[in-house]
Amino acid sequence: MGFLNDIAPLKQTALTELSAAPDLATLEQTKGAWIGPHGKFTALMKQLGTLSKEEKPAAGKLINAAKVELEAALATRRSDLELKAALPKEPTDWTLPGRRRAVGKLHPLTEVTDDIVKAFRKVGFAVADGPEIEDEYHCFDALNTPADHPARDSQDTFYVANSSPAQSGTLSPSDGERDGVRGSAKLPLLRTHTSSVQIRAMKSQPPPIRIIVPGRVYRRDNADATHNPTFHQIEGLYVDKNVTVGDLKGTVEAVFQDVLGSDVKLRFRPHYFSYTEPSLEIDFTNALVKKLGKDWLEIAGCGMVHPQVFGNVGYDPEVWSGWAFGFGIERIAMLRYGITDIRLFYENDVRFLRQF
Ligand code: DAH
Repeated sequence: MGFLNDIAPLKQTALTELSAAPDLATLEQTKGAWIGPHGKFTALMKQLGTLSKEEKPAAGKLINAAKVELEAALATRRSDLELKAALPKEPTDWTLPGRRRAVGKLHPLTEVTDDIVKAFRKVGFAVADGPEIEDEYHCFDALNTPADHPARDSQDTFYVANSSPAQSGTLSPSDGERDGVRGSAKLPLLRTHTSSVQIRAMKSQPPPIRIIVPGRVYRRDNADATHNPTFHQIEGLYVDKNVTVGDLKGTVEAVFQDVLGSDVKLRFRPHYFSYTEPSLEIDFTNALVKKLGKDWLEIAGCGMVHPQVFGNVGYDPEVWSGWAFGFGIERIAMLRYGITDIRLFYENDVRFLRQF
């Protein structure tokens, strides 16, 4: 019976030792000394057998309760010590400079696009948008580009199988006819230029119209220093009464000087586009172009909107006149930053991107 009286003081000592263990290793040793297979408390339980039948139940209860208490104390101390072990060994110096998080910035193509858009906004242009998955009607037919025109050749264009253009529903060979162009299906394709948005914009609002359309375009090209199958364009469209080529020249010149500097010179050269008449190409020069050993760089196509295009969108060509242009954003960005390989724009190499 004597050892029953030992339980309470023994438990007390065990609790004190467990909660005083300075580290995890000592704690494990202390645990072993009390409730391990050879521990003092375990020994106590073994002595139960020496007790009489009457004494056993009460003694067993007492020992078990004490063991539960010890195990709880062990768990508490263990989690405290584990937390302590996870803390830094050295005291924290709150006066040390912080770790800087790198600040992201806009991609050079985004930056150039934003600047061009800003320059056009100053003269009253609004930004318009259209789907990248287009159809032949908006990309070609409505732009007066007939079915046998080389620009539609599958060599240049990604046609999309088993999919329908973003806004025009299911395919049917008669859709083109309904839109006023005979014999043309609305085959889905990745737009080859942002000019398709001219049609969408004019069809959705009456004249006058002044829009700028930045966007991604796709052509079946092999990537090299100056080509990539995906690139970006900015389209401009201005429709009003009595619009002239002089307006076109003045506007484009002002914007390019705004974006690329006042030493910029432009030259307008006759060309052919099926959706403009007359059509022109714009050549560009500045100090950098000269440094590259060239006199002029071709950077844009433009012209006066073809009367047939006005007819296709329901604008009266006798009343309305306008100009349009389209140029590649990559070209402009390469000129602005002196970049000689277009592929650098798409590789997402931070060593390249950090420079801007
Ligand atoms: N869409 C032409 C291209 O991708 C560029 C262009 C030329 C756009 C003349 C126009 C334009 O709006 O009038 O090469």
